[in-house]
Amino acid sequence: MDTALEDRVVLVTGASTGIGAATARAYGQEGALVALTYRNNPEKAEKVVSGIEGAGGRALAVRLDLEDLSTVEEAVDTVVQQWGGIDVLVANAVRWGGDGPPDPSIRFEDVPLEEWQAMIGANLIGAAAQVRAVLSSMRARGWGRIVLISSSVAEEGLPGPGPYGTAKSGLHGLARSLAWEAGRDGILVNVVAPGFTLTDSRPPLPAFITDKLAAGTPTRRLSDADDVARLVLFLGSGANGNLTGEVVRDGSSAARAPPRRSVTP
Ligand SMILES: NC(=O)c1ccc[n+]([C@@H]2O[C@H](COP(=O)([O-])OP(=O)(O)OC[C@H]3O[C@@H](n4cnc5c(N)ncnc54)[C@H](OP(=O)(O)O)[C@@H]3O)[C@@H](O)[C@H]2O)c1
Repeated sequence: MDTALEDRVVLVTGASTGIGAATARAYGQEGALVALTYRNNPEKAEKVVSGIEGAGGRALAVRLDLEDLSTVEEAVDTVVQQWGGIDVLVANAVRWGGDGPPDPSIRFEDVPLEEWQAMIGANLIGAAAQVRAVLSSMRARGWGRIVLISSSVAEEGLPGPGPYGTAKSGLHGLARSLAWEAGRDGILVNVVAPGFTLTDSRPPLPAFITDKLAAGTPTRRLSDADDVARLVLFLGSGANGNLTGEVVRDGSSAARAPPRRSVTP
């Protein structure tokens, strides 16, 4: 399959670890120029850059903080100055809130409104800010691919992460509208909504939990970061000829598993 990514400029946000890092590496292998962002861990981002360069690719790391949206434009400006434009955006960076994924035991009414504002500000408006910042470059080139990283929680829900799931579901509406508006300029926009994904950023879970999660999926196995990266790569490449405005779920998603209680940890 020809991804037609040679010399294309790709921005993957939140790529110091996890799905973003795997995605950045996948683009690097296709000959793209890969800009990846970090927030707190520049050394991890530089490790991803070194890995891509060590494999013969080209990459650079820039800081982007979803809680300070001026850094979104700054990051995009840095990439445009360095490489002349942006062809592909993978909006993957996430504000988890706290130290990691949302706590499923928290009660809805115990989440302060400030947390709702912060979560939606970072994960929904932050994604819109990334899209706004890259669009003029894509329109000028008459070609662009945008992939927004959502979550199965957006459609399936989960006890606890109300603000997170709400912010992610907003990305689905964003993609639908943008697909209509930007399609005439050769820009395709899609959402990837992974289910529970095994990544290098999460401490390993006991097998009885991962087995239980896997049992509730259509494929009876959990995706890893490379599985999701390959999906993103297809949507955000020249191999995707005309698919736009879609939400793509992976086999790790619980959304289509019949016995819901069997997948809730
Ligand atoms: N892992 C899963 O099971 C799963 C499932 C469904 C959807 N997703 C989605 O997939 C995407 C990647 O998830 P992941 O598990 O791979 O994440 P991860 O490994 O925790 O990585 C998160 C990335 O976002 C950056 N980041 C953290 N806070 C940020 C902020 N406030 N502003 C900008 N960047 C920030 C981190 O940078 P630093 O480390 O440098 O701070 C890191 O590069 C997210 O959009 C997530 O919602 C993940």
